[in-house]
Amino acid sequence: MISSSPKISNVSSGAGSMAGVAKTMTSFRTGGAVTRRLATGIVAAALLGGSAVAADGKLTVGLVLPLSGAFADQGQHYENGIKLYQKINGNKVAGLTVETVVRDDQGPGSGDLARRLTQELIVRNKADLIIGYSFTPNAMAAAALLTEAKKPAVIVNAATSILTEKSPYFVRASFTLPQLASSLGRWAAQNGVKTAYVIVADYAPGQDAETWFKKTFEAAGGQVVGSARTPVTEMEYGPFLQRAMEAKPDAVFAFNPGGDVSVAFMKATKERGLTKAGIKLMVTGDVVDDNLLPAMGDAVDGVISALHYQVDLDNPANAQFVKEYRAMFGTDAVPSYRVVQGFDAMALVYKAVEKTGGNLDGAGLVEAMKGIRLDSPRGSLLIDPATRDVVQNIYIRKGGQKDGAWRNIAFDTIPEVKDPAK
Ligand code: PHB
Repeated sequence: MISSSPKISNVSSGAGSMAGVAKTMTSFRTGGAVTRRLATGIVAAALLGGSAVAADGKLTVGLVLPLSGAFADQGQHYENGIKLYQKINGNKVAGLTVETVVRDDQGPGSGDLARRLTQELIVRNKADLIIGYSFTPNAMAAAALLTEAKKPAVIVNAATSILTEKSPYFVRASFTLPQLASSLGRWAAQNGVKTAYVIVADYAPGQDAETWFKKTFEAAGGQVVGSARTPVTEMEYGPFLQRAMEAKPDAVFAFNPGGDVSVAFMKATKERGLTKAGIKLMVTGDVVDDNLLPAMGDAVDGVISALHYQVDLDNPANAQFVKEYRAMFGTDAVPSYRVVQGFDAMALVYKAVEKTGGNLDGAGLVEAMKGIRLDSPRGSLLIDPATRDVVQNIYIRKGGQKDGAWRNIAFDTIPEVKDPAK
């Protein structure tokens, strides 16, 4: 390992790429007027990582997370995972001191803010790379900027399949909706479900979930008999569930983006008596994230879900992870799958920087991340060198009681699932 390695800048970018940077930075509003700002040599060079940074012995990781609003718990969980990784592994890698700079992108619907924060982290804070983006629209908004700046971003959650194709600098530490939805569609058709009604949040991940549930479900003989798209932050699911029940399907399949929204969805299924009416409920596992279960109570009884993590997974990495998490955040703390994604995102950064011997060139770091295998709390994880997505186990679970509490109890493991959409 090289100690005190200098930050290696990519100064070989040609004029074409500088023009691209200027394009990404030109317009922003000041008091209602659109001001056209020319990318000055200094700003453009900083954005390109071409600031010929002196050896400062630092690795700066910019974090773009939702830390306020309805999804603030998600940002907190990713950050907890990042902090836990650093507590266990220290704040030095390849001789560099690792510093994090965190910014709040306030949740979905703030793509412009996410892009601006990403830009500021790169230009002002000299971030070498980003970990961030809980929501697809925010990652999407930052993609072109990352490409121009040649800075890697490890996607901490955003799960629409196409994202990793939007920038060669994206590497995903989370999952894709097609990984979960295709697993559930196949499981349903093979387990006596003949008809299903689909309720998904009306944006790209919801469309991915619907498409891939339907694809595997119908390929194996099932039939989707109706569907509804709900606003991303919907809190009143009663009317949607009513319509689903009127279609009298064997099952309802649903995706919505976690937090209070998913708690509202699950409570509404209970109030409407969905499962009491003999309709099976199947959801992507983020809807019934372990840390949300206390708020959902018996609404999770019998609910089938697919996810790449649950807190009681029986492997040595998870045993250490849960123990250390509770030592840091309290004996009753339940690490959400989102904590694991933050933890693994930081692990990817450390492993990549180890591999490059402290060379922080963006393209080199992305190359180093390709093919990394982590012994993660979720089980073995591989960054697919071809797609920069995660290949991982998907666990099929059923909601039930264990040790006096509501849990997701895994009863099947689908090993080494790739993103089926690529
Ligand atoms: C996304 O926007 O990609 C997203 C957000 C929350 C989830 C899953 C996917 O739980």
